[in-house]
Amino acid sequence: MDFKNKVVLVTGASSGIGRATAIAFAKEGAKVIINFRSDSNGAKEALEKCNKHSKDNIVLQADVSDVNDVSEMLDKIKKQFGSLDILVNNAGIFDESDSPTNIEAFDNIYKNNFLSSVIVTKYVLEIMKEGRIVNVSSIHGRLGHGRPTAIAYSAFKAAFENYTKNLAKEVAPKILVNAIAPGRVNTPQWGSPDKKEQEELGRAHLIKRMIQPEEIADSIVFLAKSDVICGEVLTVDGGMSLVTLG
Ligand SMILES: NC(=O)c1ccc[n+]([C@@H]2O[C@H](COP(=O)([O-])OP(=O)(O)OC[C@H]3O[C@@H](n4cnc5c(N)ncnc54)[C@H](OP(=O)(O)O)[C@@H]3O)[C@@H](O)[C@H]2O)c1
Repeated sequence: MDFKNKVVLVTGASSGIGRATAIAFAKEGAKVIINFRSDSNGAKEALEKCNKHSKDNIVLQADVSDVNDVSEMLDKIKKQFGSLDILVNNAGIFDESDSPTNIEAFDNIYKNNFLSSVIVTKYVLEIMKEGRIVNVSSIHGRLGHGRPTAIAYSAFKAAFENYTKNLAKEVAPKILVNAIAPGRVNTPQWGSPDKKEQEELGRAHLIKRMIQPEEIADSIVFLAKSDVICGEVLTVDGGMSLVTLG
């Protein structure tokens, strides 16, 4: 797929992977819709960077876990662009209180890491005739050995993978749906680790460093470009799944 003048919605594009993805699509000539929930400065910075590469980029605030917010956002997109070519379901959270017994954390993570993408996709499918959907999952949705301090996060990312495959079956061949499963990416999701902490976190990978958000963005663009990858989950984890197998 050639992205010139294509319309791309990236959810959670005020920071980290989403912001890098918005910029990567702008570099390809796409018109980018930068969605954010609370970080208006981050969204503005992302817009300024996108505007260096392509035209007609906009910022739209919406809590993607809220049906009304999403419905309004898609109305605005329809009015301004008519339709949408690419959706990147990237918005997500990491809840430090995630634990096997914390029901509130499960609910919060379910809404913000899974249901939110289901809601956005529902409204996007009303205006997307042909195109691509890329879901940002996580290697934690795939690791067989688990991580109890990220139990809800892992469970709902695993659900997201399954959802990706079933959705791909439903909407192909007009729309190709895929997902990406990153390892540890150096974004604000990890707080602000200093150099030493980054090295420590990077040791979980065979590549012995953290992954940069731009490297995940490149893989998302790769998936969106393909005319033949359909219902796939692309692992981009620097070899993390092999390291932790011992
Ligand atoms: N970093 C990693 O190591 C890693 C690894 C694997 C997968 N991932 C996944 O990658 C995705 C992006 O994470 P990141 O690391 O780039 O984190 P990040 O830097 O914290 O960015 C998260 C983004 O999601 C947005 N967001 C969260 N909840 C939202 C909601 N309900 N509505 C709208 N926007 C919302 C945030 O917007 P505001 O700040 O404006 O509220 C922000 O733009 C997530 O799905 C995460 O699970 C990350």
